[in-house]
Amino acid sequence: MRYPNLFAPLDLGFATLPNRILMGSMHTGLEDRARDFDKLAAYFAERARGGVALIVTGGFAPDIAGWLTPFASRLSMPWQVAPHRKVTRAVHAEGGRICLQILHAGRYAYHPLSVAPSRIKSPITPFTPRALTARGVERTIDAFVNCARKAQDAGYDGVEVMGSEGYLINQFLVERTNQRTDDWGGTLENRQRFPVEILRRMRAAVGRDFIIIYRLSMLDLVERGQAWEDIVSLARKVEAAGATLINTGIGWHEARVPTIVTSVPRAAFSWVTRRMKSEVAIPLVTTNRINMPDVAERVLAAGDADMVSMARPLLADPEWVRKAREARAEDINTCIACNQACLDHVFENRRASCLVNPRACHETELVVRSALARRRIAVVGAGPAGLACATTLAERGHAVTLFEQASRIGGQFNMAMRIPGKEEFAETLRYYARRIEQCAVELRLDTRATPDLLQGFDEVVLATGVTPRAAAIPGSDRPDVLSYVDVLLGAAPVGPRVAIIGAGGIGFDVAEFLVESAPSPTTDVARWTREWGVDMTLASRAGLVRPAPEVPEREVWLLQRTPGKPGKRLNKTTGWVHRATLAAKRVTMLGGVAYERIDDDGLHVRIGEEPRVLAVDTVVVCAGQEPHRALHAQLEGAGMRAHLIGGADVAAELDAKRAIAQGMRLATEL
Ligand SMILES: Cc1cc2nc3c(=O)[nH]c(=O)nc-3n(C[C@H](O)[C@H](O)[C@H](O)COP(=O)(O)OP(=O)(O)OC[C@H]3O[C@@H](n4cnc5c(N)ncnc54)[C@H](O)[C@@H]3O)c2cc1C
Ligand SMILES: Cc1cc2nc3c(=O)[nH]c(=O)nc-3n(C[C@H](O)[C@H](O)[C@H](O)COP(=O)(O)O)c2cc1C
Ligand code: SF4
Repeated sequence: MRYPNLFAPLDLGFATLPNRILMGSMHTGLEDRARDFDKLAAYFAERARGGVALIVTGGFAPDIAGWLTPFASRLSMPWQVAPHRKVTRAVHAEGGRICLQILHAGRYAYHPLSVAPSRIKSPITPFTPRALTARGVERTIDAFVNCARKAQDAGYDGVEVMGSEGYLINQFLVERTNQRTDDWGGTLENRQRFPVEILRRMRAAVGRDFIIIYRLSMLDLVERGQAWEDIVSLARKVEAAGATLINTGIGWHEARVPTIVTSVPRAAFSWVTRRMKSEVAIPLVTTNRINMPDVAERVLAAGDADMVSMARPLLADPEWVRKAREARAEDINTCIACNQACLDHVFENRRASCLVNPRACHETELVVRSALARRRIAVVGAGPAGLACATTLAERGHAVTLFEQASRIGGQFNMAMRIPGKEEFAETLRYYARRIEQCAVELRLDTRATPDLLQGFDEVVLATGVTPRAAAIPGSDRPDVLSYVDVLLGAAPVGPRVAIIGAGGIGFDVAEFLVESAPSPTTDVARWTREWGVDMTLASRAGLVRPAPEVPEREVWLLQRTPGKPGKRLNKTTGWVHRATLAAKRVTMLGGVAYERIDDDGLHVRIGEEPRVLAVDTVVVCAGQEPHRALHAQLEGAGMRAHLIGGADVAAELDAKRAIAQGMRLATEL
């Protein structure tokens, strides 16, 4: 057994879990409407079939005030129970177990009916909550208990009470959000009464043999958050009140320390759970950025926790657990923590999916069926689009030849994975390399496809990617003006003072590449926590200390033509991290820049009416991309038809999500 700790059973007293893997709670958007419950059931059933010991659903509100958004998921009324049976039956039929998460949004609710311990608006929502009356508090506790009973009726194996991430329960715990003077505020004991009463009354209502997980905020990461002693005292009360397991929660949503994005080191917070291990006797679950079996095994072997929670990794690969059990870690489609198709979608009120697995949450719609007849298909370009397309076609039984002009697969991902904090992107290439072998795609590296080479195929798919756009500025033909490709592939030296033209996703990445010293903070938890101001001693309240970013050797300007602050159009859940990283590294970010010329003095620009010369040694051009369609034009000229996918179809900057999904979708149709 390669991972003995991961696959050791866990005895809960009344039930034994077959392994130590919990699928962490994720709101996917499928919970919000009963008509989507068949899809939700299929999604969970695939994960249960993959062997995960215990699944937790996305959060369900216990009452209307607790909704995340208007008409979002809720379980409080009798008629809401029946659709859940589809989910619980589907999971049980696969031999799995599932808990319903009860999440009351409190002041994080995105609607005008929101409530909270006190009338204090959150910095991330536009609605000011109403302060609960003492009767309102009692009614909310009853709502939690009622929700747990309904979950039991619906066949769930248990519930998870969401006590972290800054939602209602967390709001009761700290003076920052709880300024009550009645029995529910003031002293620590009063502030902790709310979760303790929920758990005590819930346990009495559901009986002994029902799992109750409490998600405990072990690190608030916000000013005036809980001190470690407060958290320990709450954990002990949670245990005494009847919780079966304590899961870890890290950081309020309003915290300015990243907790799950790809630049967060793997298992970056398991040391927090370890500190709790000696304080309580019930099993503890640790979480965040545990995405491969060796990481999970290491965390368990070190005694950090009794179970690991993996949320996004099970979106990315429903068979993660089976592959780990069979010591096939290299077959795992690894979550790269990009958030692009999961959390970003949820924040945009769209159904979640996964960049590396477009079938996630679309299990009943995106189905890979055997081909009716085996055909010869050429795919040109082994970037993400071509890889997804070629492997899916081959899996369906087609004879696929994949042409790649470079000496390795991956296309632009070979550059993405060199960015400090994007190392995970290499995993996607490892995964596809395995799949190419397994489904017998004929891979022809170092082969530039031409119309002649493509003769005789039944279908041709062009995934030829993009061409970087040049900057039309006088002086841009100078040797000290480089494209981002030259910089990232190390093809040319870069001086100590650099101007980057273009502040899109690639401009931000290039800036990070230029200011971050090796080894990347993402591979070093101690450096990463120091740079972001996370106190690993837990001596300071909420785990926050003054951030101490390393001062870079280079001076970098990141410029854009569009007025306003650069980085506004970066993705919702990750853009702020990129902006904060560059700000900490003293990168000057400027919008509304008109470029005039480049000469020996540097880059001449005009900012508003003011002319300026940036005395830089190197100018890096990140001015966008054009679809690379030279071959397409040649094929059309020769009267041959071809399908265009990925960047060759639409050259948006950071769009591997679209590239992979389009490649896979086309492959299911040919
Ligand atoms: C630094 C950087 C960071 C990025 N970060 C992200 C990110 O965080 N999230 C995100 O979604 N996207 C990101 N991207 C963008 C992402 O990599 C692209 O969206 C994706 O690679 C597009 O995939 P594709 O398969 O269409 O094209 P490409 O990856 O460009 O692949 C095209 C392939 O076709 C080959 N080719 C071209 N012509 C021929 C021919 N005639 N014969 C044979 N082979 C040929 C090329 O050699 C290349 O390998 C990043 C890109 C860069 C450069
Ligand atoms: C799309 C998405 C939705 C989430 N929804 C919830 C939720 O409803 N309740 C919750 O407790 N955590 C939620 N989380 C947080 C996850 O449970 C988990 O803590 C986080 O993703 C980090 O773990 P991971 O690196 O294993 O994904 C969500 C995360 C994602 C990506
Ligand atoms: S979209 Fe990105 S972060 Fe979300 S599950 Fe997929 S790979 Fe992981």
